[in-house]
Amino acid sequence: MKQKLQLKLQSRTIHVGDVMEKLCRFPTNSIDCIMTSPMYYNDIDLGVPGAWGNERSVFEYLSKMRVFQNELLRVLKPRGTCFINISDSYAKRNHGPIKKGTKFMVPEMFSSQCVLDGWLCENVIQWLKRNAFPTSVQTHLWWNMEPVYFLVKNKNHYFNLDAVKIPRLHKSKPLNRRVRDAAHGRLEARFGKKYRASKKEIRQFKQDIRKRADYTGFNSRYDNTKNDKNPGCLLDIPVKVVPGLSHVAYYPVEFAEWFIKCGCPKNGIVLDPFLGSGTTAIAAENLGRQWVGIELSEKFAAESIKRIGVGKLA
Ligand SMILES: C[S@@+](CC[C@H](N)C(=O)[O-])C[C@H]1O[C@@H](n2cnc3c(N)ncnc32)[C@H](O)[C@@H]1O
Repeated sequence: MKQKLQLKLQSRTIHVGDVMEKLCRFPTNSIDCIMTSPMYYNDIDLGVPGAWGNERSVFEYLSKMRVFQNELLRVLKPRGTCFINISDSYAKRNHGPIKKGTKFMVPEMFSSQCVLDGWLCENVIQWLKRNAFPTSVQTHLWWNMEPVYFLVKNKNHYFNLDAVKIPRLHKSKPLNRRVRDAAHGRLEARFGKKYRASKKEIRQFKQDIRKRADYTGFNSRYDNTKNDKNPGCLLDIPVKVVPGLSHVAYYPVEFAEWFIKCGCPKNGIVLDPFLGSGTTAIAAENLGRQWVGIELSEKFAAESIKRIGVGKLA
């Protein structure tokens, strides 16, 4: 069998060429964090010959994505994290059983493939794009959200929750399940006469319940001394226009930073296999992480190096 030459992983490098040709030469278990947004199916045409997203059928796109996601699984370190922002489009004609006019549901199909192939899905984070491009369509709602799939190899993965916690609205306290069950009249049914809750405790619980978003959890795993809380799965980051870029499908630097902050250890290496205008690399630089990218277009790759301010093409 013809052996593919494995490349030496070097930070601050953009590998110019097709994602699969490059990725298959990356060493196994070498990447700490993957942050990327592939071309969506049937969406924007960036005018790059050979770019993904222009396949004749959605099934062809999904099968390419399947090989790709398995290659990502291979290159990711066992404790690594992977964040994939992938959105959707509407079918302009029938694709086999998929009828013209429907939303394809590509993100759902792609993420199902990932789980079936051995990825663990930790979250589906919804990116709220408050200032997304408006729509004149009258038959469905304005589409101002995109999912980001948080995927890992195993439950022992790296995750710095503190890096993305947000301030609490109220002073936090742990939820007492004994008192909650008593307030709901189910304590005895659950535990017999073993536990009791006083009227005062129940009264306090009923007052507190209005602030339930600030309960921190049930037991000693939760640190109640910190005044921050888990931000949840809605990420509200406006889209920003970067003057002077010829790329038109990029995400904001703050967006990439959010994922790298919680998903990549200090000095870890971030991979963006669809680097585009270099946003992920800028975010990695800002946060003191190493980075490596892949981009099909020589023009975008060269512009990225200028925008990042460091790095080389390979
Ligand atoms: C949605 S854009 C990524 C934008 C990036 N997140 C940013 O903020 O600039 C996807 C990129 O993937 C590149 N691309 C498309 N098909 C590719 C392929 N087969 N191999 C490598 N890159 C590809 C496109 O040229 C495009 O720049």
